[in-house]
Amino acid sequence: MKRTKIVLLSLLAVLACSPQAGTSVGSCPDVEARVDEILSRMTLAEKIGQMNQVSAGGDVAHYADALRKGQVGSILNEVDPDKINAFQRIAVEESRLGIPLLVGRDVIHGFHTVFPIPLGLAATFDTALVCRGARVAALEASAQGVRWTFSPMLDIARDPRWGRIAEGSGEDPFLGARMAEAMVRGYQGSVPDSTSIAACIKHFVGYGAAEGGRDYNSTFLTERELRNVYSPPFEAAVKAGALTLMTSFNDNDGVPSTGNRFILKDILRDEWGFDGLVVTDWNSMGEMIPHGFGTDRKDVAEKAANAGVDMDMMTFGFLSHLEELVKSGAVKEKTIDSAVRNILRVKMLLGLFEQPYVDPAAAKAVQYAPEHLAAARQSAEESAILLKNNGVLPLREGLRILVTGPLADAPHDQLGTWCFDGEKEHTITPLRALEARYPGQIRFEPGLKYSRQRRDRFDEVTAAARQADVVLAFVGEESILSGEAHSVADLNLKGSQSELLAALKACGKPVVAVVMAGRPLTVERDLAHCDAMLYSFHPGTMGGPALAGLLSGDVNPSGKTPVTFLRTVGQVPLYYNHHMTGRPYNGETLLDDIDLEAGQTSLGNTSYYLDYGAYPLFPFGYGLSYTSFAYSGAALDKETYGTDDTVRVRFTLSNTGSREGTEVVQLYVRDLVGSVTRPVKELKAFRRETLKAGESRTVEISLPVSELAFYGLDMVKKVEPGEFRLWVAGDSASGEPLSFKVQ
Ligand code: BGC
Repeated sequence: MKRTKIVLLSLLAVLACSPQAGTSVGSCPDVEARVDEILSRMTLAEKIGQMNQVSAGGDVAHYADALRKGQVGSILNEVDPDKINAFQRIAVEESRLGIPLLVGRDVIHGFHTVFPIPLGLAATFDTALVCRGARVAALEASAQGVRWTFSPMLDIARDPRWGRIAEGSGEDPFLGARMAEAMVRGYQGSVPDSTSIAACIKHFVGYGAAEGGRDYNSTFLTERELRNVYSPPFEAAVKAGALTLMTSFNDNDGVPSTGNRFILKDILRDEWGFDGLVVTDWNSMGEMIPHGFGTDRKDVAEKAANAGVDMDMMTFGFLSHLEELVKSGAVKEKTIDSAVRNILRVKMLLGLFEQPYVDPAAAKAVQYAPEHLAAARQSAEESAILLKNNGVLPLREGLRILVTGPLADAPHDQLGTWCFDGEKEHTITPLRALEARYPGQIRFEPGLKYSRQRRDRFDEVTAAARQADVVLAFVGEESILSGEAHSVADLNLKGSQSELLAALKACGKPVVAVVMAGRPLTVERDLAHCDAMLYSFHPGTMGGPALAGLLSGDVNPSGKTPVTFLRTVGQVPLYYNHHMTGRPYNGETLLDDIDLEAGQTSLGNTSYYLDYGAYPLFPFGYGLSYTSFAYSGAALDKETYGTDDTVRVRFTLSNTGSREGTEVVQLYVRDLVGSVTRPVKELKAFRRETLKAGESRTVEISLPVSELAFYGLDMVKKVEPGEFRLWVAGDSASGEPLSFKVQ
């Protein structure tokens, strides 16, 4: 019986993520009428109560009175189904109106079954798989009573110092937008049912551009940059039916998001037609006081309410002051009504009024279902990026293998940031998986116990290396070194990990480095000390089996970099879709070429660093395979298109190697001349193609010309006619351009 239910739920997961699936839970007239009816019976105090969210943290008794009085609309940080039922029971059976609670949680990359960190998920370029992962998270979380996740995080991040780069899809607005839709569809499902959890798209907006990569810092994004780069994932998620949105901590050009009417009303509501719920980030209303944007809690409550915030997470500013602000006329009651409508609508759509309770016994059966673990494993396999391989991978059979490094057997750390509900007891580490795959062939010497550890000598591990045929070194970052509030100024491997790799390499044996991290680290010097490098980010519960499969060659790597990998931290920010300058870098003249006592010259005459040039270590979209691919015969169906047309490009993709593999085909465009300067390249389509050894296939990709629209000088989104270049390639730095015109 239980098994049948799990299979049925998994079927729902597949349906929600099929390309034909409707966008997601949507509003319907019946819901609006019911919302209005409830609203008409509410007192002002009860309305304000709905706008208040508290972190309940297990304390039912502490909040019982407030729940009875209708002073709480939502709780977060409670996942025990019995306690959630207890909270709901008070709200539903003991408060005057019986409105159920919305129970929220940061389910960021899986609930119990932990998937790779979102940056890793983006490296799969596999929207169907990412959608399935979000569905799995929804199935597990909803079974325990969590019906709202504070995910997906859609912040474009072009600065790997920022710890939260781990939580998003990287630097590209197009990839970010596709991942956003996939996650929203996965969480919410294609039809509202008891397994739907409301997505919360966050953090609106610009948070990833925090100055210096220091979390919570100010941003200074122009409106055009905000619209062309930072907003597209949000707009796509709104169109996909995201039910809720969270404001960000940062102030942009002096205005904190939680008090920013322009973004919350003009753009979000009026332009995009969002009718979901807007929640603040944790105390981001209160933080407008230290920001210097409000004098006290009453002042910031007024500013947030009038800017368009519906729910206050943990400032208690609405609960304490909205009533007097309405009475004084500073906040209109119709503002309150519309906020409460937005909240009730979400509760209604999720079916909470019909079924606020969960079955704790059934909840257990859903966690870690085999299908969930399989999806997590596939996600970890597809998210790993092969950055270097001189032929040591895949491993030959029969080798004596030394497994080393602080991440080889670190079940907590491989889960990555933001996984409150992941359990290390359920994690399979690479060491365990490799021991199972190569019985009797594995020796383990950690070398370093944790990623920050410093050591001068590596005697045991180098002695072991000399006796092995190959060394697998699992390095990277502990999970706590990335994520919220965990920014770093140095992007090199921490502690003595680079020294460990160098010492291992000096033993003369082939060294494979597997990097498990929350961000793209600067691994240039480490590349010199290994024969192959597999970058897996933090791969989650099933990281071990996934990596064992990749290293052994049972699975062929297919991940591609979702963010530019830098040579040194001083290159920040460096991203592939930067604007065309008047003096583009062309790879010439570095420091060592400068003559002694050279006279003042405009050396090189281009935009670059004397010591590091302006090229990255690995460009966006890069990743190797155990086979190779070739692109040939690319041609467009026309030379000139109208703005309503669709560009069709055809080309032959060939697997030129000796084993099956998957290529992430990428389509980039450059708009040569605009009313404002344009990016040198922009990703406009991607697709995963699996080819057998020696197989060739004709691939056709369609690109609606409307996809070329952007906010130009007049700040109106439109396609500007002119000349374009188009590439189909395996990364953002390859391929020969085709030309076309739009008129
Ligand atoms: C984070 C949010 C998160 C919230 C609730 C904040 O500190 O910025 O992303 O959803 O806490 O846990």
